[in-house]
Amino acid sequence: MTQPSVLVIAHRGAKGEAPENTLGAFRLGIEQGCDAIELDVHLSKDGEIIVIHDFTIDRTTDRKGVVHEMTLSELKQADAGRWFSSQYEGERIPTLEEVFDLVPPEVMINVEIKDSYDRKLEPALAELMKRKDRVHNVVVSSFDHKSLLFLKLLLPEAKIGLLYEINPGSHAGLATGFGVPVYSLHPNFKRINREDIRDALSKGIQVYPWTINDEKKMKQAIEKGASGIITDFPGKLRKILTAW
Ligand code: G3P
Ligand code: CA
Repeated sequence: MTQPSVLVIAHRGAKGEAPENTLGAFRLGIEQGCDAIELDVHLSKDGEIIVIHDFTIDRTTDRKGVVHEMTLSELKQADAGRWFSSQYEGERIPTLEEVFDLVPPEVMINVEIKDSYDRKLEPALAELMKRKDRVHNVVVSSFDHKSLLFLKLLLPEAKIGLLYEINPGSHAGLATGFGVPVYSLHPNFKRINREDIRDALSKGIQVYPWTINDEKKMKQAIEKGASGIITDFPGKLRKILTAW
């Protein structure tokens, strides 16, 4: 059988096997053959786009503090790898620019905006995407759909992905009724079925459900026709697709 064309999207890097949202986790995802990397961003006190999931550094580093109340140089003092394993001691919280420099252009990056910080993050992101030539191989997603509308205003060529938790009724309708072109839907896997996915794909909208780590569920998502799967275990998904 032909191998299905499903993107392997490494969630926060290879989060299951490396400290999330670090360069080490992104390198591992790439080594394991991912097609794309998903990561989360916040804004530092001095306006740098910082790659981290939480609003604080408490859970994923050896220090404490609120990301937006810290400067880049303060954030860089924290060790973002030791909590996960001694192998990763010395990892630092990366900036988005560092990730853009690390990840080869053929690997797509899904940047999830966690907070707009009074609409200061979107202009910084648009500027960085243009400066680093990352407009066409980045998909920007967010649960905050107004943030995505603002980004489209600043950078009309940007690809945006709607992240959502609940079942919107019509998944495709969420995208087609958005007012500006939507590149992808990012639903919780539990809330979407085969027909919803087919409907979205027929309208040219990609569907990237999250977060699927179990082998059986990965196979279900492939069978349902998902265009990509967001997973903490990109190596496992790659093996399933290779053996398909
Ligand atoms: O982008 C999908 C997924 O990452 C959203 O949830 O909490 O892991 O950022 P979270
Ligand atoms: Ca995320």
